[in-house]
Amino acid sequence: MQKIFELLKKPGIQLALLVVILVMVSGAVGLFYFQTQVPPAQPIQFPHNIHIGLQIQCLYCHPGAWRQASAGLPTQQKCWACHGQLKKYWQPEVPVAQWPVELQKLRGFVESNKPIEWVPVYQVPDFVHFNHRPHIAAGVNCENCHGDMSKKTVATVEETVNMGWCLKCHMERTQDDPEKRIKLIDCGTCHY
Ligand code: HEC
Ligand code: HEC
Ligand code: HEC
Ligand code: HEC
Ligand code: HEC
Repeated sequence: MQKIFELLKKPGIQLALLVVILVMVSGAVGLFYFQTQVPPAQPIQFPHNIHIGLQIQCLYCHPGAWRQASAGLPTQQKCWACHGQLKKYWQPEVPVAQWPVELQKLRGFVESNKPIEWVPVYQVPDFVHFNHRPHIAAGVNCENCHGDMSKKTVATVEETVNMGWCLKCHMERTQDDPEKRIKLIDCGTCHY
């Protein structure tokens, strides 16, 4: 893959290819759609809706999103810092067997100290460089790319994450800025 991208540094070739690839990619959309709508089984059925309803910020659990490439996923320590204090389970003490099943699982991870292995939902291939930071800095909202998480329990893929999707938005957001457009659709911006 690397070598192909080396060959593609010439702008003329890039534009022609862009057209060809966009056609290829849009043909694959239907297939992707069905592959990605089913959420993978997660170690804990984490309810985004409840937590977002409690006004907990996205960045509290995904703090990487505004300062680095990866948004990050919370460890059980982060969950427990809050759940360990929830009075309704401790005063008077409710037997663990009577806790909601998903919270029993959370407690299990805390006691065994084994990491919760969340299954990735959104992913780009290795030869693509995606970085959250510049997007958040440019004022793109989580919701633009991940949909309305306040209506979901575990995450599902809202958008078909492929090259056509990235480019469509990059074109839309640079309508008044031809120079920036050249940069945001350049192969080397996402592949190097
Ligand atoms: C800042 C506080 C806070 C953090 C952090 C937090 N939660 Fe919660 N969570 C709550 C509150 C409050 C509720 C609603 C009260 C309840 O049902 O226990 C809740 C509810 C839940 C429920 C639903 C329980 C039920 O009644 O069915 C689950 C499951 C859950 N949390 C798991 C997690 C996991 C896993 C994490 C870490 C990824 C986490 N929570 C992080 C505060 C928090
Ligand atoms: C421009 C689109 C876009 C925006 C805006 C965006 N994301 Fe993402 N997000 C992605 C893509 C693409 C991936 C897959 C990245 C990969 O595979 O490296 C991803 C992955 C993630 C992941 C899982 C993997 C990781 O990076 O740790 C989390 C969690 C996440 N995003 C949360 C957020 C939150 C929270 C916000 C808002 C603060 C946000 N995202 C804003 C596109 C976006
Ligand atoms: C209390 C903690 C918490 C809060 C608050 C929270 N999340 Fe999450 N998020 C999680 C956990 C745990 C997972 C892993 C389980 C899953 O995939 O749903 C996750 C997964 C995700 C993923 C999928 C990651 C992947 O693997 O690709 C996205 C996207 C995401 N969250 C976006 C958001 C956005 C946007 C907000 C705010 C509107 C938000 N989250 C608020 C805990 C949280
Ligand atoms: C919803 C709109 C949107 C989507 C979807 C989107 N981007 Fe962006 N992207 C932007 C905006 C806006 C900027 C920042 C432009 C600026 O510098 O002001 C940007 C900038 C970038 C940059 C340049 C960062 C820098 O160093 O300046 C890269 C690389 C990038 N995006 C990759 C991707 C990839 C890869 C995808 C798809 C997986 C993607 N983007 C999807 C809106 C989007
Ligand atoms: C805004 C980011 C972005 C830009 C700019 C971009 N790509 Fe991509 N490209 C992606 C993403 C994301 C994927 C992986 C998802 C997919 O296959 O659609 C990808 C995949 C590919 C693939 C693999 C296709 C496949 O089916 O596996 C090729 C080849 C490719 N890009 C070539 C190019 C060329 C040539 C250019 C310049 C004309 C270019 N890309 C510009 C984001 C970008």
